[in-house]
Amino acid sequence: MSDNLYIDLLKKVLIDYHRMEMGETPPIQRNKGQKPRYMLLYMLERILKNSAFTIREKIPFNRERRLNGVDWPAYADSMVGLKRMDNIEFCVNDTIKNNIPGDLIETGVWRGGSVIFMRALLKVAGVTDKTVWVADSFEGLPKPDADKYAADKGDNHYVFSNVLAISQEQVMYNFEKYGLLDGQVKFLKGWFKDTLPTAPIEKLSVLRLDGDMYESTINALDSLYPKLSKGGYLIIDDFGVVPGCKLAVMDYREKHNITEEIIRIDDAGAFWKKLN
Ligand SMILES: C[S@@+](CC[C@H](N)C(=O)[O-])C[C@H]1O[C@@H](n2cnc3c(N)ncnc32)[C@H](O)[C@@H]1O
Repeated sequence: MSDNLYIDLLKKVLIDYHRMEMGETPPIQRNKGQKPRYMLLYMLERILKNSAFTIREKIPFNRERRLNGVDWPAYADSMVGLKRMDNIEFCVNDTIKNNIPGDLIETGVWRGGSVIFMRALLKVAGVTDKTVWVADSFEGLPKPDADKYAADKGDNHYVFSNVLAISQEQVMYNFEKYGLLDGQVKFLKGWFKDTLPTAPIEKLSVLRLDGDMYESTINALDSLYPKLSKGGYLIIDDFGVVPGCKLAVMDYREKHNITEEIIRIDDAGAFWKKLN
């Protein structure tokens, strides 16, 4: 199989494209604010407010939402849709082509699909001197620290740990499934505020943020953006869909006088190339 065919197939497998083509109806969780279809379930939810029970229900599989990566898919190894996978491919390949120094990292990996894809891209290009860093609590999102980060007030991502907390062992297994777990993959386990300031990373060529919250985004920017090489890429997965994430990015840009144009990938994702 040619490299192009492998990469094309891999990205579709990682987002579960083949399943949507079969028109299956997997159990998926509803998005926040979306009402369940059954009145009884709705009433139970009101009683068990915020319990894990609230988000598991069989609802019709929405092909468009999966393709655009705006759902929490039941089976896919990445929540990202096809356009954001294409964007990862573009950024990684562009930095390799232009000899931009530094490793690759995603802060917030869930089942690992995006970092698995990064490792595959390095392998296909024969790059052996770059590491893919896999940073996550592996126990879901933190409770909001609203005293410090007002934008996170009321954020309830942490409640959904039954869906969002994927163990490091599971992510390692997912890498193994694709034959991509090796010494070029390193794990940073813990809350970003604890792991990122002291992470043994010298330089980065691709910095992908997918931690949803203001705190998770600003922690990653504070610790890692200074390590991003000129010519490297910052990718923000939730820029268009999580206001706290966007605010963290805008605050950081203002504080550090960053003027590079923000390019939208799709309704959610955005990125820019670091020029200075
Ligand atoms: C939306 S998911 C990431 C999706 C993933 N990038 C993909 O391709 O499917 C968010 C992830 O960020 C992690 N996370 C968010 N905030 C964090 C923090 N402050 N410290 C550590 N992990 C965090 C969660 O555990 C979760 O795995």
